[in-house]
Amino acid sequence: MTSRSLAATAVAHPNIALVKYWGKLDEELILPLADSLSMTLDVFPTTTTVRLAPGQAQDCVRIDGSPAAGEPLRRITAFLDRLRIRTGRTERALVETGNTVPVGAGLASSAAGFAALAVAAATAYEAGLDPAGLSRLARRGSGSACRSVFGGFVHWHAAAPGAQDRDHASYAEPLDDVHPGLQPAMIAVLLQTTPKAVSSREAMHRTVATSPLYGSWLRSTREALPSMRSALRAGDLERVGAIAERNALGMHATMETALPPVRYLTPASHHLLAHVRTMRANGEPVWATMDAGPNVKVLCPAVEAPRIAAELAAVSGSPTAIARPGPGAILVAGGV
Ligand code: PMV
Repeated sequence: MTSRSLAATAVAHPNIALVKYWGKLDEELILPLADSLSMTLDVFPTTTTVRLAPGQAQDCVRIDGSPAAGEPLRRITAFLDRLRIRTGRTERALVETGNTVPVGAGLASSAAGFAALAVAAATAYEAGLDPAGLSRLARRGSGSACRSVFGGFVHWHAAAPGAQDRDHASYAEPLDDVHPGLQPAMIAVLLQTTPKAVSSREAMHRTVATSPLYGSWLRSTREALPSMRSALRAGDLERVGAIAERNALGMHATMETALPPVRYLTPASHHLLAHVRTMRANGEPVWATMDAGPNVKVLCPAVEAPRIAAELAAVSGSPTAIARPGPGAILVAGGV
């Protein structure tokens, strides 16, 4: 072990799925029931430092300046335990993480968080992982985090049925065939930034177990993935947006028909969704997507984004952030 690798700092960004991950095949390994596809953003980075602490009895985690406890601490400790078993190392760690996005509001803070943690912790514990390995590791923290390891547009593979090593078979990969003329922006409308009442983990589980619509959404999402890949290759933003909006609305229909229902969208979300449809009827190139929270993200051409963001801010009375495709997780300090 070299002293250089005792500590490492990594930065990662959230990603927003255009074809959603919603439902697990395996809850322990965090294997999805279908492939998904996302865009990594260039806003709201999370920075995480992992410092090995020989002789310390417990992991010590600080999130945004406060000591972590309860479920967040348990998830991070379990994540580090997996890495310790894998590397044969026993040191506990000091973890310091700083978010620039509201946590638990459907703005993918856990994706950025676990991607940054995977890169920093794998470096500090000298796990020697390649990018696909880092993606598999991030997946075990939070499924969508495996996509934030990479920049731009990213495809997360579900393990193929019959795969011998299903953990190995499920990882994300950046797309290298997106049409260079495609210049999208994603406008996040921050309607509400308080943490959600039901975790995405619980909501997903309940949806798969009880929603009568889940099977048909799953079939439609499996069809949407290759259509989305071909729309991205063709640089056809209209098709990308249409597929993404329909896939997100379908995902919310599945959770709203779960028992008991999960309703992340609020009247303010629906008001904004209606406005996006009106804008589109008036010829504006805008499409909406929503995740496990009330906030709405609007896909549009980058050149139009400042004007469209101003309109969305005026209609909703909420702040907006314009994101472009952003970078993958990077190590900013530590390592060899
Ligand atoms: O990785 P999780 O458990 O936070 O799942 C989030 C899933 C969605 O954000 C709702 C959809 C997606 O594909 O990111």
